[in-house]
Amino acid sequence: MSLALTEDPETVFKSNHMNHFLEDVLTGLRSNPKHLSSKYFYDKTGDGLFQKIMAMPEYYLTRCELDIFRNKTGDLANLINAYGSAFDLIELGAGDAMKSAFLLRHLNEKGADFTYMPIDISGNILSVLKENLNKELPQLDIIPLEGEYFEMLEKASAMSSKRKVILFLGGNIGNMSRQEAEDFCKQLYHLSDPQDILLIGFDLKKNPHTVLNAYNDPGGVTAAFNLNLLSRINRELKGNFNPDYFQHYATYDPVTGACRSFLISLVNQEVLISGERIIFEENEILDMEVSQKFSIDEIHHLAEHTGFKVTGEITDSKNWFVDSIWKKGHLKTDVYGK
Ligand SMILES: C[S@@+](CC[C@H](N)C(=O)[O-])C[C@H]1O[C@@H](n2cnc3c(N)ncnc32)[C@H](O)[C@@H]1O
Repeated sequence: MSLALTEDPETVFKSNHMNHFLEDVLTGLRSNPKHLSSKYFYDKTGDGLFQKIMAMPEYYLTRCELDIFRNKTGDLANLINAYGSAFDLIELGAGDAMKSAFLLRHLNEKGADFTYMPIDISGNILSVLKENLNKELPQLDIIPLEGEYFEMLEKASAMSSKRKVILFLGGNIGNMSRQEAEDFCKQLYHLSDPQDILLIGFDLKKNPHTVLNAYNDPGGVTAAFNLNLLSRINRELKGNFNPDYFQHYATYDPVTGACRSFLISLVNQEVLISGERIIFEENEILDMEVSQKFSIDEIHHLAEHTGFKVTGEITDSKNWFVDSIWKKGHLKTDVYGK
């Protein structure tokens, strides 16, 4: 009986997910400086708070990319060769697919032959996405995939031999360090074929005040989004964080383009997580998230350095955000040391 239960794929997925979550949290909190991975922001409460962030006047990113998806949909469809052979439209970290829904609607209306495969680590947001799209586009062929980007991308590739159009929107790539972004693109290179197309959203460098305000709203929604991870650890990993003893702090360095979110410990304190003790000193920082801003040159360099060529670019009307379209190019020997 118990054997049958542990073999249930969903139970196995949840249990593996919990083990990784605990391992990542303890490793991060035993490092110097302490850090947590922002991929764990997205439980049900975190998903709801992120939807609030997207609606905030300060958070320009969503409105900029929405401008592209709403007003330049035909250009987008042409750049991803939507009217060529049948394809799988795979979206990494799809969230609620609020922006991609404009492209999906357009492709449906124009009779493009495709299956939509949204990938997200949050099962909750995938249910929201599916419910919304089922209502709005009942004829859409949709296969939601819950899990990590690359595990699910491999699963999607194993399910279908159609060419792939891979979307990675919202500046998600900015939530990685430069090295992580490079490794991420190299992995995408290895998992894609020459006929595949990649569309990646990049938030561009702009007035530093505009950037910082997007991560430092006066209503405290971004602070609540960060603090929720401590509450999630309490809920899911038997933690006893007191979120009142931490304060959100955001910085932006216009030279490197890194916008960073921290939590600051307001007191000397001891926290227990699944029985493991973590000590925080007063004013010690906990590194929560980076949101990297790019120049167009830096984007081109990232593409070329990881084996891709840029085949198109669409910016919003303010030139604050770009969706960059890439195809596999020639692998440079110096990139992989081969
Ligand atoms: C910043 S939100 C952006 C959502 C959407 N792409 C947009 O532009 O509005 C990031 C999304 O990626 C998901 N995510 C983060 N890390 C992930 C990972 N390693 N694998 C799969 N999904 C991930 C989160 O659950 C969340 O829904």
